[in-house]
Amino acid sequence: MTGPGADGLSVTVVTSRVELEECWRIRFAVFVDEQDVPAEMEVDDLDTAVTTTHVLATVAGSAVATARLLPVEPGVVRIGRVAVAREARGTGAGRAVMEALHDVALATHAGPDGGVRVDIEAQEHAIPFYSRLGYALVDDRRYLDAGIWHRDMALDLPR
Ligand code: COA
Repeated sequence: MTGPGADGLSVTVVTSRVELEECWRIRFAVFVDEQDVPAEMEVDDLDTAVTTTHVLATVAGSAVATARLLPVEPGVVRIGRVAVAREARGTGAGRAVMEALHDVALATHAGPDGGVRVDIEAQEHAIPFYSRLGYALVDDRRYLDAGIWHRDMALDLPR
């Protein structure tokens, strides 16, 4: 998808089991080991659904970040499992995987007007990250998921 930039970061759509396992390795390190999400909650059937798109960011061949996209209906997708390896945070890897999935959303899941709405369930600490990407809070509701406070956010991507 995006070749290596000056910082060596490149993002690809996952097309193999080996790459998917790299995504899981990052997610387990971030969500299970670091954030105490129960291991049995981390991988679900949606991970291997044919409709799901995963992206993987690498630096010099090492996997550093991942995220996944789930189509909801034409013109609406959900992005989740956004995880950047601790040592790679603050280097643009999170932005890169989100922007790669925004491209996938527009190319593959646009609605009749050519645009897409992206819904996310944001961990509260990550709200500033998503805000930098243009996401806005949907309402005032906060809720616990896997023991972590979340808020719903959304972004309208025009054609
Ligand atoms: N507070 C304020 N701004 C932040 C921020 C924070 N905590 N984290 C990132 N940003 C900003 C950066 O300054 C940057 O702004 P800019 O591009 O305008 O200069 C932008 O967001 C992108 O930052 P980036 O370096 O791409 O973020 P990242 O690679 O560190 O990834 C997370 C951010 C949240 C994905 C990463 O910290 C992470 O994986 N955390 C643990 C897992 C997690 O919480 N995932 C989210 C689940 S909802």
